[in-house]
Amino acid sequence: MEIKNLFPEIIEIKNEELREKVVKSLEKAISLGGWTEEELHRIPFTLLIPELVNSDLSVKISIIDHIRAVTQMCITTYERYEFLNLADNLNKDELIAGGLLHDVGKFVEYEKDPTGKIVQNKAGKILRHPAQGLEIVYEFNLPLSVRQAIIFHSKEGDKIKRLTEVEIIHRCDFLCFEPVRKIYGY
Ligand SMILES: [Fe+2]
Repeated sequence: MEIKNLFPEIIEIKNEELREKVVKSLEKAISLGGWTEEELHRIPFTLLIPELVNSDLSVKISIIDHIRAVTQMCITTYERYEFLNLADNLNKDELIAGGLLHDVGKFVEYEKDPTGKIVQNKAGKILRHPAQGLEIVYEFNLPLSVRQAIIFHSKEGDKIKRLTEVEIIHRCDFLCFEPVRKIYGY
């Protein structure tokens, strides 16, 4: 499985060391989860919208689609900040790395039940993907902003002072969730 083909946005990270750490983190999470490349496209990005899963167990928006869309929104946000002459305040590489890794824990939070349905596993229920994601990447010594994106992009970070890059990732993540939920009537 070629991680750079699965997530083409990785090549937008200019710093080679960070780029490789992102590849290794995703590789490790996917291998810990035991997913094949085909199965990855059958993981819904959330379990809160059952309609995302079709009767043949294919999905309308996979976790891969979601991670890519969030990262693309982060890149577009960076470009709008360039328009506003604010981009110097952002680390573009870390913003992209954080977008790509914010849900890295979901590859271990979910598992396939005997019927092939994707469910949250026991550790996933207790720890959730933000904490599980931080556990996975500990050995790669990622920048603090990327680590904060993993552990605090979701509700866990609501009482935390998010860094600017993480604030953007958090909002792009919710843009790829709340309106989708409304579209499906929740
Ligand atoms: Fe997400």
